[in-house]
Amino acid sequence: MKTKILKKNQLDEAVDLLRQGQLVAFPTETVYGLGALATNEKAVKGVYAAKGRPSDNPLIVTVSDAEMMKNYAQEVPARAQKLIEHFWPGPLTLLLLVKPGSLPQAVTGGLKTVAFRCPDDQLTHDLISKLGKPIVGPSANTSTKPSPTTSEHVYHDLKGKIAAIIDGGPTRVGLESTIIDLSVAQPVVLRPGEITPDELSSVLGEQVLINTGKVSDNMVPKAPGMKYRHYAPAAPVTVVDRAQDFARLKLTATDGVAALSEVIADVDLPVKNKFNLGADLTAANHNLFNALRYFDNQQQIKQIYVQGINQGQASYAYMNRLNKAAAGKHFTL
Ligand code: TXA
Ligand code: MG
Repeated sequence: MKTKILKKNQLDEAVDLLRQGQLVAFPTETVYGLGALATNEKAVKGVYAAKGRPSDNPLIVTVSDAEMMKNYAQEVPARAQKLIEHFWPGPLTLLLLVKPGSLPQAVTGGLKTVAFRCPDDQLTHDLISKLGKPIVGPSANTSTKPSPTTSEHVYHDLKGKIAAIIDGGPTRVGLESTIIDLSVAQPVVLRPGEITPDELSSVLGEQVLINTGKVSDNMVPKAPGMKYRHYAPAAPVTVVDRAQDFARLKLTATDGVAALSEVIADVDLPVKNKFNLGADLTAANHNLFNALRYFDNQQQIKQIYVQGINQGQASYAYMNRLNKAAAGKHFTL
């Protein structure tokens, strides 16, 4: 199969492909998603196959607005309503009880809940409203690889396996949406993202719990994706928490370093071994996955060191993805 790159004036072609049960990658403000008509079981199974994703890891359902969501949610609790008014369209995914029988098993992995997302992206909004039905939307990467923040990343991973990619340019945030579970007595953040637990608490007017995601392989975790290796480039990754430790690393030509501008400037390595994450946390969020992919394309790199950033809740999402990429490995003297 030849994978087409579609521009914004070719949305109708994307709608037709999705109607026919084909797979089409789409832009969002977080990362690119891999779309298939959520009500078409065969198409949804194709998403797992294209990504190489384990079948017990359920898919997000991407809607054009809250009205569309109501056809697939058993109920929309008052908490969900508040968060929708405040944050949608935007990088917040809501876990609600699914309306029984409204979606194929393959979408929810047989769970009683379903994750709803309404991205802040005009192209994708128009795509789903024209389609009139939701599309599933896992990140459009090969399973275990860093999520794609450009259409080129998607093409690299999925060319020949999907019908088309809608090119919307680089994504704004660079890390996936915050997931909040509203199917339980007290709201819980299952995955940190740009929207922090404190922001959610202040809109809800109540405490929001944080799931630290520590689960072992034989457990059934609340967000099944948490138990798998993630965001992993080919070379092993080590987190360097203190900027001054980069000077102590005894770096060689087979090492790669990704760090903030002020740190990277002082790292004694050839330019091609270094990736500048930018000036601040927002830039680092935007660039982290790109950095991990950059080193995958440098055959000489055998070890990657990435700067840890500790700025409280604002850096939870960055550290969550980085810790997974590093399988928890931090530099210690
Ligand atoms: O920003 C995002 O959310 C992106 C863009 C493309 O929308 N999508 C994304 O999807 O990150 P994915 O599949 O890569 O990550 C979704 C996570 C997975 O860890 C999955 O296990 C969890 O959400 N999830 C999905 N449905 C769930 C459910 N019913 N219960 C618990 N966790 C669920
Ligand atoms: Mg993913």
